[in-house]
Amino acid sequence: MCGIVGYIGAREAYPIIINGLKRLEYRGYDSAGVCLSNDALRVFRKKGKVADLVDLVGNQDTHATAGMGHTRWATHGEPSDRNSHPHSSEDGDLVLVHNGIIENYAALKSLLQTKGYTFSSDTDTEVLVNFIHYVQQLEDVKLEEAVRRALREVVGAYAIVVMSRKESNKLVVAKMGSPLVIGLGQEEYFVASDATPFLEFTKRAIYLEDGEMAVVHRNKGVRVSSIATSATVDAHIHQLKMDLESIEKGGYDHFMLKEIYEQPKAIQDTFRGRLLPDEGIIRMEGLDQIREQLLAADRILVVACGTSWHSGLVGEYLIEDLARIPVEVEYASEFRYRNPVLTAKDVVIAVSQSGETADTLAAIKMAKEAGATIFGICNVVGSSIARETHAGAYTHAGPEIGVASTKAFTAQVTVFTLIALWLGRAKGTLAEKRYLDLCQELAGIPDKIASMLQSDAQTVAIAKKIKDSTNALYLGRGYNFPVALEGALKLKEISYIHAEGYPAAEMKHGPIALIDEHMPVIVIAPKSGHYDKIVSNVQEVLARKGQIIAIVDEDDTEIRSMAKDTIGIQPSSECLSPLLTTIPLQLLSYHVAVLRGCNVDQPRNLAKSVTVE
Ligand code: AGP
Repeated sequence: MCGIVGYIGAREAYPIIINGLKRLEYRGYDSAGVCLSNDALRVFRKKGKVADLVDLVGNQDTHATAGMGHTRWATHGEPSDRNSHPHSSEDGDLVLVHNGIIENYAALKSLLQTKGYTFSSDTDTEVLVNFIHYVQQLEDVKLEEAVRRALREVVGAYAIVVMSRKESNKLVVAKMGSPLVIGLGQEEYFVASDATPFLEFTKRAIYLEDGEMAVVHRNKGVRVSSIATSATVDAHIHQLKMDLESIEKGGYDHFMLKEIYEQPKAIQDTFRGRLLPDEGIIRMEGLDQIREQLLAADRILVVACGTSWHSGLVGEYLIEDLARIPVEVEYASEFRYRNPVLTAKDVVIAVSQSGETADTLAAIKMAKEAGATIFGICNVVGSSIARETHAGAYTHAGPEIGVASTKAFTAQVTVFTLIALWLGRAKGTLAEKRYLDLCQELAGIPDKIASMLQSDAQTVAIAKKIKDSTNALYLGRGYNFPVALEGALKLKEISYIHAEGYPAAEMKHGPIALIDEHMPVIVIAPKSGHYDKIVSNVQEVLARKGQIIAIVDEDDTEIRSMAKDTIGIQPSSECLSPLLTTIPLQLLSYHVAVLRGCNVDQPRNLAKSVTVE
């Protein structure tokens, strides 16, 4: 939820840190700060974005070959200069940046106050840096030992980088519950919340595990150890596959638009090597690893949040339809607290783009303790949720920078489609011909999306008509009911127009009272899904002067003759239609938000990765 960058080596640290923070702003952008180590520890920090920090630093001396930076999403203490990271110990000897929440910070603060410490912010982070300082003074140990001993008393989630005025040749880092990765360069080292800040310098990385810390020393390199036992850890060195240009905007005005247009490739990458349509083979190592549990499962549970929860709903329709296994889709934040009935026969699928969503992570830890088998669908390699599961399948959608999830959603739906097809064949519930036909059809989806993305003129025209609306209703049936929910979420989270998704038939049970000539009603109406019923729903809306915007097959005639505005999609089997019907809804929300002058990539109040409850 916050972004951290650190550097130690021979280069100037400041530009590396600033560029890295800019790439991490999707993790939070309430405030930003840097600490530069050059004889002294110099801290610059400010409420606002990284650009505001750069303005603050201006032409001041930034020469340093070691340093760290932070971009914040507020949890304790409102966004302000004094609550901005980095935070320093009272005497300025130690400086620290932190991503996470220290749950016992109040008790630690009370202890420190009895020892004479005073505080200038409302943050848990300032307590942490002073607690480390207190331990170091009390026990007269090196920085890394003080960090270790202090963290043994800390309860909560953290990814931290600590620097000391007196031990300026090292960064000390530690991880519990929030992500931290170390980039291994040629006699230079990077630490960050994800790998994007150092990709152009090195692709060799160590992902710290929970309960691990490391000393990153200018001359001695990296030593990873256990916080609890002090034992050295032989950490795995990953060779990263991401490349820098994949995280730039690539000529689009916004990351969100780039990511909408990346969907043909993202879906291709998701089933690459997994779907062999001509051979009728679906090959997924993660499914093979838990094959026995899947085939014996009485039910499958899906836990997720937000857009990922919507992809889980599509997964429910797919798996029940094709594999005849009962599926329950749960909001992770509810599931983890409602004392659910769980058995060792349950298979739980955790869906998370970031792989760091706290509620989803907590939900699967609970399910794991109950003996359930956990399968993950994540987009970030090495993320906390990915490493918590027994097996999984990465979506391989590439970095999703825009806060509003787009390509991750369709990639998640693609994985669910592969799972449902694989299960249906394994259980014998899916006729061979239908299985083979769907494999071929799925393989052709990227081209269908690419053709639909050839022009968004119709979407722009409709966006101009509805951009000043105060409400909107999204209606869908069957597989497209979850798409109605997702379309509504997209509109409200980036354009701030209130929108609701509903099963189309539900409208007459209440929401129809909302319909008037000011209410845009977006109806998802492919011919493959309950078309005649949708036609009736369209007529009900028109009878009340509602503005119908219909997502219809390109060769549709009936609804096109009734609706004020339509957007054409490529026809498909109903079970594959969410991959297509979602696209115009993403574009519609994007264009409405742009026309309203909203910050599309960083909508107000939101962050890309919600790593607190
Ligand atoms: C997506 O458009 C939303 N910004 C948000 O609901 C998101 O899907 C949710 O926070 C879950 O994130 P995750 O997939 O990284 O777990």
